[in-house]
Amino acid sequence: MKIAVLAGDGIGPEIVAQALRVLEVLKKEGMAMEFVEAPLGGQAYDAYGHPYPEFTQQVCRAADAVLLGAVGGPQYDTLDRPLRPERGLLAIRKDLGLFANLRPAVLYPELANASTLKPEVVAGLDIMIVRELTGDVYFGQPRGIRVNPETGQREGFNTMIYSESEVRRIAHVAFQIAMKRRKKLCSVDKANVLETTEFWREIVTDVAKEYPEVELTHMYVDNAAMQLIRNPKQFDVIVTGNIFGDILSDEASMLTGSIGMLASASLNESKKGLYEPSHGSAPDIAGKNLANPIATILSAAMMLRYSFDQEAAATRIENAVKKVLAAGYRTADIYEPGMKKVSCSEMGELIVAAM
Ligand code: IPM
Ligand code: MG
Repeated sequence: MKIAVLAGDGIGPEIVAQALRVLEVLKKEGMAMEFVEAPLGGQAYDAYGHPYPEFTQQVCRAADAVLLGAVGGPQYDTLDRPLRPERGLLAIRKDLGLFANLRPAVLYPELANASTLKPEVVAGLDIMIVRELTGDVYFGQPRGIRVNPETGQREGFNTMIYSESEVRRIAHVAFQIAMKRRKKLCSVDKANVLETTEFWREIVTDVAKEYPEVELTHMYVDNAAMQLIRNPKQFDVIVTGNIFGDILSDEASMLTGSIGMLASASLNESKKGLYEPSHGSAPDIAGKNLANPIATILSAAMMLRYSFDQEAAATRIENAVKKVLAAGYRTADIYEPGMKKVSCSEMGELIVAAM
C-alpha cells in the first residue's frame, strides 16, 4: 500500500502525525504500508511557488491512496487566485479524477450533548452524503470576472454544468452505497429552477431502474437544508452535486456536534482515494497541540476500507476511537464538564493504546 501523505497547512501536520501513529501500529504488525510525504496548499506554495506542484503530482499519481490534513491560512488569502491553497485542493481532485466524495455524518452516542440540536432529534444519526466533486459550477467554463462589453459594468460569472456520464457515475456510486446501508437514497437538486439539475434528476431516475431495491426520493436543496435540521434521521444516503454537497455536508456535520469528528473519502473510478478530515486548517489553534485528530484518524480508517479492502483494520480503528470516547477523553472542541480534557497528541496516544 503506497500512501502519499500531504500534511498541508495549519493544524494539518499535527493531526496527520496522529493518524500516522495509528497506521504505524498496523505496519508494525505486518501490514505492507509505505508512506511518501509531499506538500500541498500553502506549504507547497512556500516550498515550490505552487499549491499543487509537479513533485506532489508525481507522488500522488504514483500512490494507491492519499492521506491529507488540511490546506489554507490567512497569510495566503492575498495571493493571486490560481496560487491559493484551495486551488491546490481543487487541482488534486481534478488531477486524480476524484469525483465521488463520501462524507458520513455519524453521531457517537457519547457526544449526543455536543450537538446544538435536541438529543432526541440527533440520537442514532447516521447519514452518508455523496457529493459529486469534479464537476458543476466549481469547474464549469466559462468563468471569471470581467467587464461586460455591452453594459460596461464589471460582473462575475460561473457555469453550472453536468454531463450525462458525470451524473451517471456518481448516481451509481450512491446507489451502491445505499445497497450496503438502509437502501434509501435521496437525490438533492433544484430542478424547479435550474436546468442542470432538472437533467440531473432525469438521469438519476434512469439509473434507479438498475437498483430496484433502493427507494429513491428527490428533494429540492432548500427543503433539504431545512429537513436536515428538522428531522435529520429521515435520511440514509444523500446524493447531490458539487456546490449543494459542499453546503449540505457542512450543515450535516454540525448535527453531530463537532466537525472535528468527521472523516471523508474522495474516490476515483478505480478506488484510488484521497482521505481527509471534513474540517479545515484551523489556523487559530495551529501549532498548539489542541486540535482534534479523530476526523483524520477516521479518514485513515476509511482509506483502509475503501482503497485497500481492509475492513477488519478499519473497524478496529473505529472501535478504538469509540472506546476512548466512552472512557471520557475529549479534545477541547468536544469537551464537556466532567470529562477528561486531552491534547491532540494525547488523543492519538490513547487511540493507539486502545487498539
Ligand atoms: C470542502 C471545502 C473546499 C470545497 C474548499 C476549501 C475549496 O470547503 O472540501 O468542502 O469547497 O470543496
Ligand atoms: Mg466545504
